[in-house]
Amino acid sequence: MAESLLRSTTISISKMSSSLCFSSSATLLPSSSTRRPTSLSLSPTSSLKCFRPLPSLSFHQNNQILHQGRRTSLVRVNSNVARTAITCFASDPAQLKGAREDIKELLKSNFSHPIMVRLGWHDAGTYNKNIAEFPQRGGANGSLRYEIELKHAANAGLVNALKFLQPIKEKYSGVSYADLFQLASATAIEEAGGPKIPMKYGRVDVSAPEQCPEEGRLPDAGPPSPADHLRDVFYRMGLSDKEIVALSGAHTLGRSRPDRSGWGKPETKYTKHGPGAPGGQSWTAQWLKFDNSYFKDIKERRDEDLLVLPTDAALFDDPSFKVHAEKYAVDQDAFFKDYAEAHAKLSNLGSKFDPPEGFSIDDAVPEKFVAAKYSSGKRELSEEMKKKIRAEYQAVGGSPDKPLTSNYFLNIIIFIAVLAILTSLLGN
Ligand code: HEM
Repeated sequence: MAESLLRSTTISISKMSSSLCFSSSATLLPSSSTRRPTSLSLSPTSSLKCFRPLPSLSFHQNNQILHQGRRTSLVRVNSNVARTAITCFASDPAQLKGAREDIKELLKSNFSHPIMVRLGWHDAGTYNKNIAEFPQRGGANGSLRYEIELKHAANAGLVNALKFLQPIKEKYSGVSYADLFQLASATAIEEAGGPKIPMKYGRVDVSAPEQCPEEGRLPDAGPPSPADHLRDVFYRMGLSDKEIVALSGAHTLGRSRPDRSGWGKPETKYTKHGPGAPGGQSWTAQWLKFDNSYFKDIKERRDEDLLVLPTDAALFDDPSFKVHAEKYAVDQDAFFKDYAEAHAKLSNLGSKFDPPEGFSIDDAVPEKFVAAKYSSGKRELSEEMKKKIRAEYQAVGGSPDKPLTSNYFLNIIIFIAVLAILTSLLGN
């Protein structure tokens, strides 16, 4: 849906990446997701770096169609053959950092942390580890931007998250939707006081609504056998019991709304005044703060105004889940550690990365000081040093190759000492 709004538009190439360099004029007509007029010029030997979420682009100049492949390609401009290597990553790291700052501002203004987390989870949670091909395997690939997937019953209300993010997507067109959704989710967790998530980026977007997964891959909140159902769904994603429990802890944020999922009260004492749009039923009293209160609250079940879904209750009913849930209820550090790892894993499910290893947008941690690192590692003396030592040896009558045969001063001192002893003995 969002993409169809933007189709048949053109972009400013200068917005794509500051590393682009051009010298004659051409027009870039992207196949999707961009909108501003573009003037593109290419110098014959330019080396271009472009960070585009687009699967393929067509360059038009003087009615001549120029083709650009996904990663590295040659671009021809008229008879002037401009051979230009273009390296495309799925997202531009600098733009991702810019988008992260804008997401932080957005969160401060509309308190949309919970819905951003849910958006990221629902894009990734369609992954099926038994399907090898991208994008049929589902997962974090940006497919949730299409109307057909937003209309899946499990995704009710998530169109609002997309609306919040769309202006950021337009400002940072060099960020893929798949990355933007996961960036928004991880940023929301961190901004709500949760752990730092070890994220990587470079997710490639699916390019058409036909590539969306079929409905029914996400979990139900009230199935007949909740623990079995959770295992069916999360094991299909390749996740473990510990990860199921840790990830469920994301319900420490947000609310359920009867008009969306059908679960929860229309409002409670914790939600009737917002912040954000009022209403719904939260799992915790402070539902914009990421901590371990979800586990404490669903264990105690003492407050009628707090929600416990059948799948939440299963975390303390099932013996294997319970081990982790009990631990997280008393040990927030353990929860944060496991949550951060599980969230990062979830965010990568099914993704195709470009570059294949992905990349981080967190500045490198300064290296630990290691004294030995600063040694040249040489064990041999330099020639200069050998000469110096030789000169010193020779000054006292020796050489480095030949030890001094005797020490005359020492011999004289010993001789005097012996003489003095003998003299004193004879005197006595
Ligand atoms: C374990 C299976 C899960 C089930 C059955 C489930 C079900 C639900 C339901 C019914 C809602 C209410 C939606 C609404 O009415 O707007 C909800 C909200 C939410 N879910 Fe889950 N969920 C599950 C797992 C997860 C996971 C793994 C995450 C994140 C890692 C997550 C994050 C959220 C968040 C943050 C909200 C609040 C959204 C808001 O306030 O707008 N959920 N979930």
